[in-house]
Amino acid sequence: MADTKRSKVTLGMLYEKMRKAEPITMITCYDFPMADLVEKAGVDMVLVGDSMGMTILGYDSTLPVTQDVMMPHVQAVRRGTPNSWLIGDMPYMTYQPSVETAIRCAGRFMAEGACDAVKLEGGAEMADRMAGIVRSGIPCMGHLGLTPQSVSALGGYKVQGKGALQAKKIVDDARALEDAGAYSILLEMVPDRVCELITKRAGIPIISLGSGLHAHGQLLIFHDMFNLYPKFKPKMAKVFGDAGKTIGDGLKQYVTEVTTKQFPQAENWFTIKDDEYAELLKLVGD
Ligand code: KIV
Repeated sequence: MADTKRSKVTLGMLYEKMRKAEPITMITCYDFPMADLVEKAGVDMVLVGDSMGMTILGYDSTLPVTQDVMMPHVQAVRRGTPNSWLIGDMPYMTYQPSVETAIRCAGRFMAEGACDAVKLEGGAEMADRMAGIVRSGIPCMGHLGLTPQSVSALGGYKVQGKGALQAKKIVDDARALEDAGAYSILLEMVPDRVCELITKRAGIPIISLGSGLHAHGQLLIFHDMFNLYPKFKPKMAKVFGDAGKTIGDGLKQYVTEVTTKQFPQAENWFTIKDDEYAELLKLVGD
């Protein structure tokens, strides 16, 4: 069960960490058992990302994920991690169409998912959505650099901001999001010195995913950290434990033990008393 002794992470605590230059930890999470582990490890921020479309559902992108599909996962994660700062990731086309759709989607994550915040992708062009959500009393995180919902326009999953002009746009977008009220910004696959520059200029926590050490905090995708995503391993991910191998080996052993009748053993099944069994035989006429 989740360790409920840890005190609830608040926005104030995240800002305090930023001020004290204590790195903020963030991880993606998609279900109750993972959330329980994340809670016990004391991770600060937990993102139920639309990356679940790839890591959990096996799609090639995040685009098919809807809020209806995400919501039970958000609720399961909240049950497993009552004390982390929980972020609902706004899925494709829930906030792009208008400020109103953005506020409605964000509100649903808060009301039905008991989230603490939401996250949206995009820069200055999304500043009015950001401002609308924040005006509604909902903390909202920005997401710049590689924004997977725009993978087609970006030409694939690749580093963003390698050229000075493109990097300047990311710097300007970070300013626009902060001015619009973002409580934090995630920089995904941005060169480390660009991330450092943005971090130095920001008054809000900047979180890095593959963008170097200089941000106020780090994010990794759960499935990348534990070798649970079979399709590829991104350069930015470090495998902190090979759960994929452990589970794979266990499954092979299970197949062997069942086929050779080593499993199950007496401790793995249930019995009926002799007299009850004798009565049963009479009842069925055996
Ligand atoms: O969906 C997600 O997990 C994300 C991360 C890739 C940042 O948005």
